[in-house]
Amino acid sequence: MKILVTGGAGYIGSHTIKKLGRQGHELLTIDNLSTGHRGAVLFGDFKKGDIRDPVFLRRVFSSFRPQALVHFAASVIVPESVENPLLYWDNNISAMITLLRAAVEHQVKMAVFSSSAAVYGEPEKIPVTEDHPRRPANPYGMTKLVGEGILADCDLAHGLKSVCLRYFNASGVDPEGELVEDREVETHLIPLVLKAAIAAREKKHRAKGRGHSGGKELLIFGNDYPTPDGTCVRDYIHVNDLAQAHILALEWLSREKRSGVFNVGNGRGYSVRQVIEVSRRVTGLPIPSRDVPRRPGDPAELVASSEKIRKVLGWKPEIPELEKIISSSWNYFSKQVAGSRKQVAGNQ
Ligand code: UFG
Repeated sequence: MKILVTGGAGYIGSHTIKKLGRQGHELLTIDNLSTGHRGAVLFGDFKKGDIRDPVFLRRVFSSFRPQALVHFAASVIVPESVENPLLYWDNNISAMITLLRAAVEHQVKMAVFSSSAAVYGEPEKIPVTEDHPRRPANPYGMTKLVGEGILADCDLAHGLKSVCLRYFNASGVDPEGELVEDREVETHLIPLVLKAAIAAREKKHRAKGRGHSGGKELLIFGNDYPTPDGTCVRDYIHVNDLAQAHILALEWLSREKRSGVFNVGNGRGYSVRQVIEVSRRVTGLPIPSRDVPRRPGDPAELVASSEKIRKVLGWKPEIPELEKIISSSWNYFSKQVAGSRKQVAGNQ
């Protein structure tokens, strides 16, 4: 199939491209590289450009003529969306309208959309099923909900069938070591926990060698949530299992020719403290942490019911265990630091 992928140079996009490419699909990635990495696009063609640019899009659609669209490109950081909502409405909604206008004009009939568990806001009951009321607790979640609504209207008016995948907490890194989880500003829990582990290791080295001290600690945002240990609970899902959901969604769209909405999560929740505990086991390092006030926009608990995606799409996670998810991240992060240390030594 000819598939146009927006945001394919990003974290989830690049992992999905790798799976789609291995299946032999003809791929074109468009990405403005504001957060993504060109080198992470392992299959297909690449064009740098912005989906807010209708001239760029017209050129891309009329030359590539895609049959399907997989739309990842978006701003995705919950606290940033609370501070700068207009950026989120622009990047996630204005841009999506421009993109879908081009897709409809060029008779694209299938789309897979990166939606989010953030559409549910503070859930009334756990695990969350797809028909749970959608009341986003932050602007990011609101833009994803509106994105789903735009697609539903495009189905009715233009026959553009779509699958909206409501991602829970994407985590882990390509176990084959070819891809990255590398953001200029990191806000996600698991990478920050592992960076705190690395800082603890560095501190130990320095203390041994030259008597210096220092290093980062993990800030735990809120210890007074109505959860067993007071910290927020999330459903962490390996990025490769998330990528697989896109493959199955495209197959389902080709076969069934109708639209659908699916949660993508493992159905098991872990608190911030549990994530730190498992990371201590995986890394063998202490991981210093400190409790600080809540972060605005964070729901207490988000855990998926994944029954629908398992039943309808036949999805089954290959790496559901938190320990293995964190190990795949640790493989990546521990090597990164070793690599950069070598590079610094080489430059001296
Ligand atoms: N957290 C900390 N300290 C940190 C970073 C995070 O305590 O330094 C906490 C957060 O408060 C939250 C949990 O760890 O309770 C997870 O935070 P992340 O930033 O890793 O992830 P979020 O749950 O905020 O958001 C992620 C994605 C969203 C998506 C959401 C769906 O970034 O795009 O999962 O569950 F909508």
